[in-house]
This record gives sequence, structure tokens and C-alpha cells, in this order.
Amino acid sequence: MRLIITGGAGFIGSALLRFLLQETDYKILNIDDLTYAGSTETLKQFEGNNNHNFEKINIRDLKSLKSIFERFKPEGIIHLAAETHVDRSIDNPTGFIETNIIGTYNLLECSRLYLKSLKQNNFRFHHVSTDEVYGDIYNKPSSTEMDPYKPSSPYSASKASADHLVRAWHRTYDLPVVITNCSNNYGPYQFPEKLIPLMIINAIEQKPLPVYGDGNQIRNWIYVNDHVEALMNVFHNGQTGETYNIGSRVEITNIEIVNLICDLLNKLRPDPGTNYHDLITHVTDRPGHDKKYSINSEKIEKELGWLAKTTIEQGLEETINWYLNNKEWYKSVLDNNYNLQRLGLIKTL
Ligand code: NAD
Ligand code: TYD
Repeated sequence: MRLIITGGAGFIGSALLRFLLQETDYKILNIDDLTYAGSTETLKQFEGNNNHNFEKINIRDLKSLKSIFERFKPEGIIHLAAETHVDRSIDNPTGFIETNIIGTYNLLECSRLYLKSLKQNNFRFHHVSTDEVYGDIYNKPSSTEMDPYKPSSPYSASKASADHLVRAWHRTYDLPVVITNCSNNYGPYQFPEKLIPLMIINAIEQKPLPVYGDGNQIRNWIYVNDHVEALMNVFHNGQTGETYNIGSRVEITNIEIVNLICDLLNKLRPDPGTNYHDLITHVTDRPGHDKKYSINSEKIEKELGWLAKTTIEQGLEETINWYLNNKEWYKSVLDNNYNLQRLGLIKTL
């Protein structure tokens, strides 16, 4: 199989590539523009693997995408490339509109024109999205695939827009698509702006652990390898035109997650002078902060037999050990533009 993966130098894309290159003999073309979130350090693990080809391309560039499709002749695409951090989308939404909306439109158009020229339908466009499109569900148990979209942040609104485009290209042009909406991921190679790696690295470096507001916001946390297995399952077995929610059974508050990280660090990296819990600091809340996301994954569990396997204790322990053993990686992705400082505190009107 010849597969295009977009965003394969990022967190989830690189986990998906690790799986594909280990478990299959697919020929992969990895398209990534290596923004601040995509790193050559992350790509090093694929060096020497002939099934991995990399093209540094911006998905905002329709012309380059068209020529890549003509040359590579993919049988499918799994689209992960995106601007992904809510706090950055509050500071500067432009890139989110351009990459997440226009970039997805470009890939849809490329796929449509390419399929039209081939006059065949042996192709699948898998769009990777988020549970944040359903918005803040503080007064509801969980979000199903039938629920209305109610995004709160520029990030989630741009992902919701992209999801709508994908559905429109299916309905109007018969483009064979599937969409997945997943909850918060964690694991190795996640850029340190996100809650879990930020807290782990700050704790290792003995810096304050900044919990936004009271820390009682609820998220559903899934270990990245469980998400990858779900993506593979949907890509191969999902019904064309359908959407599948992906999540784990782990639903906890931010403050509980941070306390768990501190407990595990006290066990895995005891330091006589430090109780990691003492580093926890409550800071000003995020503007427009969603209190709760909770995803209902019954559809994928019942129809496709997928279930998240990793407990939060196992997943966090593996993740913490990975960051402890890969300090060069996280040091290499931090620079003058981003060094664990607070983002997304722009003054509201
Ligand atoms: P990430 O920020 O770690 O990686 C994004 C990758 O996309 C990077 O390698 C970056 O270089 C690349 N990229 C960004 N803009 C690009 C452009 N214009 N052209 C080409 N490449 C570009 O993101 P992630 O956490 O791995 O998320 C991957 C996908 O999964 C995203 O679509 C995201 O919305 C979705 N998702 C993420 C989570 C999560 O918790 N991380 C949860 C659900 C869904
Ligand atoms: P994040 O990892 O940015 O994911 P998302 O906002 O997409 O869910 O944040 C997860 C939760 O953690 C969210 O409720 C915001 C909170 N948070 C903090 O309390 N402190 C932090 O430093 C960060 C980055 C996030």
C-alpha cells in the first residue's frame, strides 16, 4: 500500500509512522513542513528505513501537493498535519485558519482531482480530528458522533471547519472519507507546550507547575499508541463517510493528572530535597477555557472492536521514563521562541 501521512514529524504522526514502519511493509510518504512542532530530531528514528520517504511541504501550498499526488500515486492519506495548541491559537489564530482549514481544503481538492484523473475509487481520505469540536460539555455526560459542533477556541473552531469540509467533499463529490475525533493524547515525543510533557519537564527541571485556574477542568486522556491502533482500525475497517469518536475510560481533572505525575516522579526519580507536589502553582486561567471534554467511544468499540488498553498509571509511567531518558530530545525542541513559558494570556476585549 502507498500511503501519504501528513504531520509525520509531529507527536501523533510520528507514533503512527513507528507503528506502520514496524508492523507493515507500506510505502509511506511523510509530508510535513517542520514547523516548531515538527522536528528533524523526531524524524531521526526513521533514518535508513526505505519505506519512509519525507517531503518538506507546507499543506497551504496546493501546487506542490498536486505534483506530489501525481508522482507518488497514493492509495490513501491519513491527514494529521495541523496547528494544534489552544494557547497559541488564542495568541495568534491566523496560522490555524490557514493550515487547518485551507490546508485541509487543499488536500481534499488534490485528492478529488487525483481520483478523477485516475477514474477509480480505490482510495481513502482519513481526516484526524479532535473531541474539542463538540465544545465544553460541563453539563453533559459525554459527546457522541451525533452531537452538534460547538467549538470554543480558534483551534477547535478551525478543526470543526475542516471536519465540515471533509463531510462536504464526501457528500458532494463522493470522495471516500472517514473522520476520527479523538480525546487528549499523551506519550513520547509530545511537544512540551502541552499539559503532560510541560509538567513532567518543569518538574524534572525543578520549576513551578502552572495549573490554570482551580485545575478542576476534566479531560479524557488516551495513550498515543492506543490512538494509533484506533486510527489503523478505522482506516482499514471504518465505513466510508462515517465518523468515529476515539477515547479511553480515563476521565480526570487537570489537578489530579498533575498530582499523579508528581506521585510517579517521587517514585521514579526520588530527590531527597524535593517533594514534586510542592512545585504545583495555580496561575491565571485560560481565556474561554473549556471545563469538560468527554468522548463517548461506544461506536468504535461496538462496530470495530477497538478498546483503549493502557491505564493512566502505565501510560504516565512510560511517558515520564521516556522524558527522563530523552532530555536531549526535549532540549533540542526548545529554543529562544519557546522555552516552557506561559502562552495564551492575551488580554480579552
Ligand atoms: P503536533 O503539533 O505535535 O504536530 C503537528 C505536525 O504538523 C508537526 O509535525 C508540524 O510540523 C506539522 N504541520 C503543521 N502545520 C503544517 C503545514 N502547514 N504543512 C505541513 N505540516 C504542518 O500535533 P499532534 O498532537 O501530533 O496532532 C496531530 C493531529 O491530531 C492534529 O490534526 C490534531 O488536531 C489531532 N489531534 C490531536 C490530539 C492531541 O491530544 N494531541 C487529540 C485529538 C486530535
Ligand atoms: P492542553 O494540553 O493544552 O490541551 P487542551 O487544551 O487541548 O485540552 O491542556 C490540557 C488541560 O490542561 C487544559 O484544561 C488546560 C490545562 N493546562 C494547565 O492547567 N496548565 C498548562 O500549563 C497547560 C499547558 C494546560
